[in-house]
Amino acid sequence: MKVAIIGATGLVGRMMARILEERDFPVTELIPAASERSVGKMVAFKNKEHQVVGVEEALSRKPDFALFSAGKDLSLKYAQRFATTGTIVIDNSSAWRMEKNARLIVPEVNGNMLSKDDRLIANPNCSTIQLMVAVHPLQKKYGLNRMVVSTYQAVSGSGQKALDQMEAERNRQNPEPAYPHPIDLNCLPHGGDFLPNGYTSEEMKLVNESRKILSLPELRVTATVVRIPVETGHSESVNLEFEKDFDIEDICEILAKSPGINLLDKPEQNKYPMPLYAVGKDDVFVGRIRSDESLPKALNMWVVSDNLRKGAATNAVQIAERMLEIC
Ligand code: A2P
Repeated sequence: MKVAIIGATGLVGRMMARILEERDFPVTELIPAASERSVGKMVAFKNKEHQVVGVEEALSRKPDFALFSAGKDLSLKYAQRFATTGTIVIDNSSAWRMEKNARLIVPEVNGNMLSKDDRLIANPNCSTIQLMVAVHPLQKKYGLNRMVVSTYQAVSGSGQKALDQMEAERNRQNPEPAYPHPIDLNCLPHGGDFLPNGYTSEEMKLVNESRKILSLPELRVTATVVRIPVETGHSESVNLEFEKDFDIEDICEILAKSPGINLLDKPEQNKYPMPLYAVGKDDVFVGRIRSDESLPKALNMWVVSDNLRKGAATNAVQIAERMLEIC
């Protein structure tokens, strides 16, 4: 397979190359692409150096797969051009996620919706992916009435410039800011842009993408997105109100058996999910599971995952693997 990575020099793009290698995706030719600034730089893949090319050059090489992670504007400009030449595009930006004709896929949840004719498949937002992996098996059994999510999102989710800001602040330098405020020793209730309804674009992604992935267009969801000074690993406090009565032991059993989930819920031993331990792993870690004593049929849980891996690169490569299986 000829595989292009568009945005190959970025945090997610570099992770995509690593995951392709780790999972032994059958890559016969890697085409790393980035902006003109990076053309000619080298990217390591399978013990070989590969030269970064521009996006037009990548397009002209007609790859079988193109994994996009170079921002929404670039995806809007190029994703369809690749798709119309027959390339299977898996797009990590928000450009196509809510398009009626584009699939929005978390393989463990709705991978069965993929068909061999799909050419433009959207990878959901990092916070949405881990949320869906944890919520879907419970929703299937108990039905979902309402979901309240508060996120504690890592800085790497905002890209290299944001990480550079935090590092410079830690070294008491004056960085070029990626955020409107300091991020180190702080937390920002602000992800993306503010919208007329008072929510941020990141909050509305969680709402709208969850509805689309679960095929529940009327689902009651509300979200608060907070950026915290952690390098990698998003955490989420999740409150679920089900349609049916549930049994906590059954909830734990379902989660323990579900693909992609690592149940880590031994509070008596101080064992619960944390970003520091989720980093470098592909699982979605779930813990702190307890009934919501203020509401019948409701519970609280804590969900943590590596935002660069399952939240982005791993999910994209898993989609590519599914497409290989069905094509
Ligand atoms: P470059 O390194 O040449 O700027 P991150 O989210 O970590 O900042 O990464 C963004 C990725 O998207 C980088 O690989 C970056 O390339 C790439 N990128 C940004 N703008 C463009 C563009 N106009 N054309 C191609 N790639 C782009």
